[in-house]
Amino acid sequence: MYLREVKLLREKITSPDRYPFNIPSLRSLESLPFRKNVTFFVGENGSGKSTLLEAIAYQCGFHTGGGGRNNYYELASSEAWLGDYIRLSWLPKVNSGFFLRAESFFQFANHIDEVAREDPGVYEAYGGRSLHEQSHGESFLALFRHRFGRSGIYLLDEPEAALSPARQLAFLSILHKLQRKAQLIIATHSPILLGYPEADIYNFDAQPIGLIEYEETEHYRISRRFLENRKFYLKELLD
Ligand SMILES: Nc1ncnc2c1ncn2[C@@H]1O[C@H](COP(=O)(O)OP(=O)(O)O)[C@@H](O)[C@H]1O
Ligand SMILES: [Mg+2]
Repeated sequence: MYLREVKLLREKITSPDRYPFNIPSLRSLESLPFRKNVTFFVGENGSGKSTLLEAIAYQCGFHTGGGGRNNYYELASSEAWLGDYIRLSWLPKVNSGFFLRAESFFQFANHIDEVAREDPGVYEAYGGRSLHEQSHGESFLALFRHRFGRSGIYLLDEPEAALSPARQLAFLSILHKLQRKAQLIIATHSPILLGYPEADIYNFDAQPIGLIEYEETEHYRISRRFLENRKFYLKELLD
């Protein structure tokens, strides 16, 4: 474990009614402790998971559009609005790691292609070829398998976005190996990923953000109810 706590610097906030400070989960946030090698962020769409993850990435010195410390490229809309308003407590401090943003992975892949024009060797960290020549899911797994591995902090925003259920399971096994020497904070909607044991799950629908058990998450409950009784569920929904 490296990152022990993120604290919101409330005294610096001048416009509490504006984004990002008006997001309910952040309105009531004082600090969030990290106790495990793997921490999940869950919550409804718009509950503030990405906003906080991006701010942590910013404070880690990672490109807020996605990438590590050495990835500099132009990407609009990568401002970390909350970045200057949080403080991270480390023990020990690490500088290595990666910020994965599903929504700007395409631009990240462009960036790697550009670097590879000068130095084709960089593809080795991404499965031996351009991320654009792999399917979305393949390129994600190539990144997880080849680029993730060293100790450090890995911030992943919806890594399941491109992955089939079978590949989400493959991801769990990669995650399990990686967490032995790294810390991961993962925003996810996947009931498969959330099932990873020994992880903390923070619920962004609660105010203040609090820990929640796997079986209590909406993601688990809704998926389970749907799969167990699809016909009944559909009848309620569609009739
Ligand atoms: N740049 C922005 N300007 C204004 N509001 C934003 C901006 N980015 C996100 N929001 C709003 O902040 C809320 C939280 O967004 P986000 O952190 O992306 O949620 P999540 O990742 O949990 O789905 C949403 O209601 C969203 O519309
Ligand atoms: Mg998000």
